[in-house]
Amino acid sequence: MSIAISTNKDVFLLNTKSTSYAFGIDDQGLVRHLYWGKKLPSAEEFEMPQLTEVSTNDPVYEITREEFPVYGGLRYKEHCLKATFADGTRELVYQYCGYDVEQGDACEELILHLRDAHYDLLLDLHYKLYPDYDLMERSVVVKNQMEEPLQIEKIHSAQFHIPYENLNFSNVHGHWGAEQQRFVQKVSYGKVVIENRRGISSHNHNPYFILDRDATETTGEVYFGALRLTGNFSGVVEQTPYGETLVQMGLNSHDCLLTLQPGESFTAPAILCGYSDSGFETMSHNLHRFARENLMGEGLRPVLYNSWEATEFHVNSRDQVKLAQKAAELGAELFVLDDGWFGERHSIQNGLGDWYVNEGKFPNGLEELIDAVKEQNMMFGIWVEPEMVNPKAQLYQDHPDWIYHYETRVTDTSRVQYVLNITKPEVKEFIYDMLDDLLTRYDIDYIKWDANRPISQTGPQRDVWYKHIQTVYEIVTELKKKHPKVLFEACASGGGRIDYGILGIFDDFWTSDNTDACDRLYIQDAYSRIYPIKAMRAWVTDCPNFLSQRVIPLTFRYHSAMMGSLGVGCNILKFTPEETELSQKMIRQYKEIRPIIQEGTFYRLENPSANQYFLYEYLKEDLGVLFAFLPQSKVGHRGTTVRLRGLDEAAAYVLHTSKGDIVKSGSYLMYHGLEIRLTGDYASAIIRFEKPQ
Ligand code: GLA
Repeated sequence: MSIAISTNKDVFLLNTKSTSYAFGIDDQGLVRHLYWGKKLPSAEEFEMPQLTEVSTNDPVYEITREEFPVYGGLRYKEHCLKATFADGTRELVYQYCGYDVEQGDACEELILHLRDAHYDLLLDLHYKLYPDYDLMERSVVVKNQMEEPLQIEKIHSAQFHIPYENLNFSNVHGHWGAEQQRFVQKVSYGKVVIENRRGISSHNHNPYFILDRDATETTGEVYFGALRLTGNFSGVVEQTPYGETLVQMGLNSHDCLLTLQPGESFTAPAILCGYSDSGFETMSHNLHRFARENLMGEGLRPVLYNSWEATEFHVNSRDQVKLAQKAAELGAELFVLDDGWFGERHSIQNGLGDWYVNEGKFPNGLEELIDAVKEQNMMFGIWVEPEMVNPKAQLYQDHPDWIYHYETRVTDTSRVQYVLNITKPEVKEFIYDMLDDLLTRYDIDYIKWDANRPISQTGPQRDVWYKHIQTVYEIVTELKKKHPKVLFEACASGGGRIDYGILGIFDDFWTSDNTDACDRLYIQDAYSRIYPIKAMRAWVTDCPNFLSQRVIPLTFRYHSAMMGSLGVGCNILKFTPEETELSQKMIRQYKEIRPIIQEGTFYRLENPSANQYFLYEYLKEDLGVLFAFLPQSKVGHRGTTVRLRGLDEAAAYVLHTSKGDIVKSGSYLMYHGLEIRLTGDYASAIIRFEKPQ
C-alpha cells in the first residue's frame, strides 16, 4: 500500500519507492500540507502545527499551508480556484467530508472529498501515485450539483509547498526556431510567472516547473512538476514572506471563463510531479521511464525521411517518388510527404482547408507515390494542418462563419491563415471526417499534424482556449480508435506543442524547425530534462543550414540527430556518392543502437574540460552508447575526461573506440573516466560499449 492513513484518519502519507508526500485535515476541516521529500515511515508521527497570526495584518490563511487554497476570506496569496455563484457570491468555503482510495494497474489513487459549506458544490482532490516511478499526479474535479450554473474564473490544478527560500527555478524560453532555451533563475521575494496565452504554442515557455537547491545532475534536492495540458497554461512560483516557496500550475485564467451548468463537472489537467534528492538525472529518468512505459505506444520509432526542406511547396509525384526511392536506398523506413500536396497549395497563400489531392501535382493520384513508397517497404506519412484555413480556400468561401472571429472586427491572419473554431460540432465533424476519409482511402501510417499560428479573436465564448485543444485531443483519440496503426506527430511551427498533455495522444514531437545540428544540442539537452528521447524527432538537413547559414560536417549532423528519433530532411537527390555512402552507414549504425537510444536510460554527462564538450550516454541493460561533440575547439585544444554513469562497478566493459577496442572496469569508467580528445571544429564521436555476457 502506498497510501498510509493515520489512526485518527486525519493524516495522509503518500509513499512512492523513495519519496513521501503528506497532508492532514485540521480541526476546521482545512486540508493542510505537511511534507514533501525523502521517504518517511509512518503517518502517525506528524503533528498538525497550531496556527497563530503573525499580526492582525498577516492573517492565518497567509501562513497556512493549504493543499488547495480557494479564493475567499482573508486569503491574499495565489489561489487555485476562484468561482462566482449564481447569486453573485464570489468566495468559496470548503469543508473536508471524507476520502476514497482506488487501485489502478500501475497506480493507487487517493480522492479527497471537499464540499462547500453552503452550496452544493463538490471539490475532489486527486492524488494518483506511481510508486515505481517515484511520481504522483495531482488534479482536481469540480462538481456543480446546484440548480444554477457556476462560473469558474480561475482554476489551477494544485499547489505545492516547498519549505525553502532562494530556490533555483528552471524552465525554457524561446520562440520559433529557438525553442527549448534553458534558463535558470533565483527565486526571491515576489512571484515568477510563466504562461502561454496563444492557445497553440509552447515555443515561449513550457508547462513545467523545476525548483532546486543548487542541485547538479547527480546531487541535491529537486522538486518538479509537468502539467498535462497543451495551450494556455500558467505557472506561478512565489516566495512568501513566511519562509516557504509556493508553486502552482494550471489553466491560464487570462480571458478564460468556464461555466459549469447544473450537474456538470470539470476535471482540471493533472500535474505529474516528483521529488529527487539526487539531482536532475533522477528527475529525468523517472519522467522518461514513466512516459515510455505508460503514455507512449510500444515499439521503436522508424527512421524517417521528410521532404519539406528538399522541396517545400514545390511538390509533385515524380520528384517525390524519386526522393522516396533514394530515401529507401539510404535506409529510411518512413517517407513523409510534407506541406503542398493538397488543394491550391503552392505557397502559404492558399490551400489550407481544401483537403483534396492536387491533380496537377499528382495526376495519377496519391496512390502513385504511396505505391512507390510501399514497394520500397517503407511506411507512408503525410502532413496536415487541420485546424486552419486560408482566406482564399474554398472551405472559407463556403463557411466564413467557421473561423474564430468577431462580427464587427477584421479578423487577423497570421501566415495568411485563420483558425477554425473547431469547438463547433460541425467543424469538428468536418475535420474528423476529412482525416478519417484520408486514412481510410489511402494506406497511411503516419500523420504530421501541424498548427502554424496562434489563436486570436475567439468570439464570445471564453472557454475555447481550453476547449480548442480538448477538441484536438478528442479528434486524434477517435481517429486512433479507428486507425490504430497510425502514428501522430505533434508539430506547431516546430516545437510549439511539446508537453505532457499531448504526449500519449500523439506519439512524437517535432522538436524544432531549427535543424542546425549545433543549435540542436542545446535544444535537445533542455528537452531531455522533462521529455522522453523516443518522442524527440531530429532530422539531418542540408548545409548551409537555412536558418543559421552554418556549414557543419555531415557526420556531426548525423550524430546530433541520432540522439533522438532519427530523420533525414536533406535534398538527398543532390547527395554525392560519398554523402550517400556515409548516410547509409550512419542510418545502419543508428538502427543497431536504436533500442539503446529510444528505450535506454539517458545521461547528461559532466564535462570537466575548459573546452565546450557536449557529452551524453545511453544505457540499456549491458549495452551503451556515448556521444561526444565539440562544436568549436578552443585555446589549448584539450581533451576531456568523461565519467560514465549507471555502470556495473565490478564488470569489465569493452569500448569500441576509433583506435580499436579497449577494456575498462565499470568503476574506472565511472570514477576515473575515459579520456576523449576531439580536434577541429564540429568534431563528434560515438563510442559504443558493452558488458560482455
Ligand atoms: C511548419 C513545420 C515544418 C513544415 C512547415 C510546412 O513550419 O514546423 O516542419 O511542416 O510548417 O509548411
